[in-house]
Formats: sequence, structure tokens, C-alpha cells
Amino acid sequence: MDWSNLEEKMVSYRRHFHQYPEISHEEVKTREFIKRELESLGLKPFSFTGKDVVVDLKGANPGKMAAIRADMDALPVEEETGLPFASKNKGTMHACGHDGHMAILLGLVQFFKERQHELKGTIRFIFQHAEETVPGGANEIVANGGLEGVDAIFGCHLWQPLPLGTIGVRKGPVMAGADKFTIRIFGKGGHGSMPNETVDPTLIASLAIVQIHTIISRSLHPLEQAVVSIGELKSGTTYNVIPDSATLSGTVRQFSPEVSKQIHKRLDDILHGLCISYNAKYELNYTYGDSAVVNDAELYVLMKGKAADLFGEDKVIEIKPQLGSEDFSYYTNCIPGMYTFIGVGKEDVPYGHHHPKFDIDESMLVPAVKLLSGAVIDFLHKGEAS
Ligand code: NI
Repeated sequence: MDWSNLEEKMVSYRRHFHQYPEISHEEVKTREFIKRELESLGLKPFSFTGKDVVVDLKGANPGKMAAIRADMDALPVEEETGLPFASKNKGTMHACGHDGHMAILLGLVQFFKERQHELKGTIRFIFQHAEETVPGGANEIVANGGLEGVDAIFGCHLWQPLPLGTIGVRKGPVMAGADKFTIRIFGKGGHGSMPNETVDPTLIASLAIVQIHTIISRSLHPLEQAVVSIGELKSGTTYNVIPDSATLSGTVRQFSPEVSKQIHKRLDDILHGLCISYNAKYELNYTYGDSAVVNDAELYVLMKGKAADLFGEDKVIEIKPQLGSEDFSYYTNCIPGMYTFIGVGKEDVPYGHHHPKFDIDESMLVPAVKLLSGAVIDFLHKGEAS
């Protein structure tokens, strides 16, 4: 493999994607660019949803099918990096590294294309739309049969919290599930001077917030991990009027559907109790979002081994579960999957994912291709004498 040639190509892909970012569900030009690149390699891309781009590469010998996925969407962020290849689409930016993910996947396609004659099994390359939104693209791809016949799936994220050159792995739950809730509390409005004539929804909302914060500390098993955060409280319009209603909304991060259900139930119990005691009514809308990304135990061993072989054991980091969410969970809910973190963090660059000054380190594109291709080959050729 001519790695420096491939690196040059991947850097130019990445910079192209970076210049022309498109937000979730609107990745039109991105999709067309990828399709053209794949066709220029003599491949026949297709799509499960009309928004994704997929290509299958069949090896010379029959075997299992492995999928590798990259996400294509950017964020509604105004870029402030000042890079020469900064976004030309105002108010939109690849501020999460998905530009790099697409470049890596195109690099992998080219890597495997050169090895098609010695490859066993099939590789499906999935360029997925809309990772950043709920509902996202993974769900749609799975619902349209995108995983039929696929035995395992691999994905990675260029990851700023990890030092440059390291690889983050973890077995089991690795990224959180994310739910969302909205609460409306209905009281009885009136004059601020006569609270006895009213049912004050602001007070009930305040008490609800305090009690909701006991769910994690007093209801959840101490060894379970979850977050409940209230990000929004809206009530009233002026200083001397008690309003009719108040609205709260928040997010829940968890690593199992049971915890989700338990938190949902506790929210309902708390609101029910409070509203009875203060003579108010409530409405709770709880939306179960992406579930947790769970890494398969065998694929984890395979990936960790490959990372240690390639980069040395000291570069492999056992990471803690990340509280961010990822719709890669729709794949790992169906088939064994492995989601790996590629360290791109630099001490002198403190800007994290989704920040207007976020930037990836392009020197990790080639290592990512080496790692994923090695793991996929190991998976497809497993059981063979080497
Ligand atoms: Ni991302």
C-alpha cells in the first residue's frame, strides 16, 4: 500500500468535506461527491434510504460480511478556526470530525479495493446521514434492511478528549443512551399579592427540580450510571403575576433501557405526588431516544489486540463510558459491533467537539485506516490458519 499517496488523498477529501459541510438530512452534495468517488473506483454505490450511500465490496473468496460505518453530517455552528479550508457554508461546520470519518471510510474503500483478490467475505461501507439528530440516519438504514446479511459492524470517532496517537477501547456499554423529557405544570394564575388565591406553577416546578435531582442519588442503584439534567425552565412573564403554567425540559443519559424506564417512572411519581399535594395538574412527555452503544466482547478483544500490535500497548487506553450519545446503537442493538475512539487531542488545542474552533489532527487518518482494516480482516479471516 502506498500510504503517503493514500494519506494525501484522504487529506484532500477531508478538506473538501470540511469546506462544504451540510447539516443532518441535507447531505446532498456530500452524498454526490462520495458517489462519484466510489464510481470512479469502478464500484456501484447504492442507498437504503435515499440519503445514505452504501457500497459492497465482495472478496475473491466467499465468507462473512462486515460493515464499516462513517457519518456524514455537520452541525449548525459558525466556524471560527480561520483554517484555509474553513467552511464555505455559512452557519454550518464540520465541528465533530465527521469530515475525517468520511475521508477514513473512502480511504478504507481504496485500501480494500486493492486487496479484493485476496479478500475473504464481503465488506459493506456505509456512509450514513444524520447522526447528530433524533431520529437519526442509523435507525432509517436499519429499518430499510441495511444490516441484512451483515455479521458485524465497525465504527470509529476521531476523539479530542483522548491524546493524539492513542486508541480508546471499551467492552460493553461505551456511549450513553439519550432520552428527552418535557414537563408542563398547570396551576392557577393570579395576582402576586394574593398567592392564596392561586396554584403557583413556578413553585411546584422548583420543588419538582429539587426532587428530580434525588432520582440518581436515591432511586437508582448506586452501581448504575445515569445523568438527569434539566436544561429549561419557563414560567411567567412579569414580576407581579403568578402564571397559569410552567414548562421544564431535560435530558437523561443512561446505559440500559431498564434505567430509562425507571427514571421515566420516578419522574411521573414525583410529579404525581407534588401535583396532588398542591392541587395542580401536569403533563409529562418522555421520549426514549438512542439507546446505549454496546461493544461486543469478542470484537473488543480483536480491536484491542490489533491496536496494540499496530501502535504498542501503551497507546491503547481503556476508556470510561462516554455520556454523549451515538446512533451507532441502532446497529449494535441488532448485530455485534465495535465502536472505537481515535485520539486526536492536543494539549495546546483545548477546543472540544462541537466547538466553533474544533479541528481534527489529520495525522490520525492513516492510523485509523490501518486499525479498522486490520480489525476487519481479522474478523473476516478468523478461524483461518495464518
Ligand atoms: Ni460525532
